[in-house]
Amino acid sequence: MSFQKLFKPVTFVLCVLPLLLIVLKGFNNNLGVNPAETILDTMGSWAIYILLITLSVTPIRKLTGWGGVIRLRRMLGLFVFFYVCLHFLSYIWFDQYFDWNEILKDIIKRPFITLGFATFVLLIPLAVTSNNRMMLRLKKRWKLLHQLIYPIAIMATLHFFWMTRADYTQPVMIAMILSALLAYRLVLYYQKKPQPVRKQSGHRSSTDR
Ligand code: HEM
Repeated sequence: MSFQKLFKPVTFVLCVLPLLLIVLKGFNNNLGVNPAETILDTMGSWAIYILLITLSVTPIRKLTGWGGVIRLRRMLGLFVFFYVCLHFLSYIWFDQYFDWNEILKDIIKRPFITLGFATFVLLIPLAVTSNNRMMLRLKKRWKLLHQLIYPIAIMATLHFFWMTRADYTQPVMIAMILSALLAYRLVLYYQKKPQPVRKQSGHRSSTDR
């Protein structure tokens, strides 16, 4: 099997690893003093880490010229959704004990939960339309819809900031990486934007044809 072909299964295994580790730790009673919080936080953290890795695919492709990396993007995006679902499930299960009234009240009352929930809701159409069939059906609108990933990334980072009470190292690092990734997008956008046509003077330069 070539290196290129191995890359996808290896990425898949790496993305499943955080979940396997947490299950293993659970079996070994090694989830710390508050296992519920450990699971909730770990799933949320991996959702945001993989989100940043997904947003790095385009810069890696452009800067290294390695086109094959683009084939990992869909899988990475779906892993973001997978970990957000597990994060939400941990919240519903271990934080709220499936008390739907309390969950609704919490989503309305606590702004960082409202923001997290809105981020989750915005991720749903991206996950649903991630297949080739929807890509072909939506055409240009697909690209537009998938640009939602940028506000989603900003909202997820704010959610992380908002829930942090003491050590801001992690959310600050996430915000810095995200800023760099978004700034790179802006540069690409302005490079691609057609330049306004300059009014021609009567004088011809040596490069004119
Ligand atoms: C479905 C709606 C969501 C709910 C109800 C929710 C709820 C929570 C809760 C209760 C915490 C833990 C707060 C604490 O430890 O005191 C948390 C932390 C976190 N959430 Fe969410 N969240 C949601 C969506 C998201 C999304 C969409 C992302 C990212 C894509 C995300 C990323 C995080 C991160 C990174 C943390 C901090 C983890 C850490 O402390 O290491 N959450 N969330």
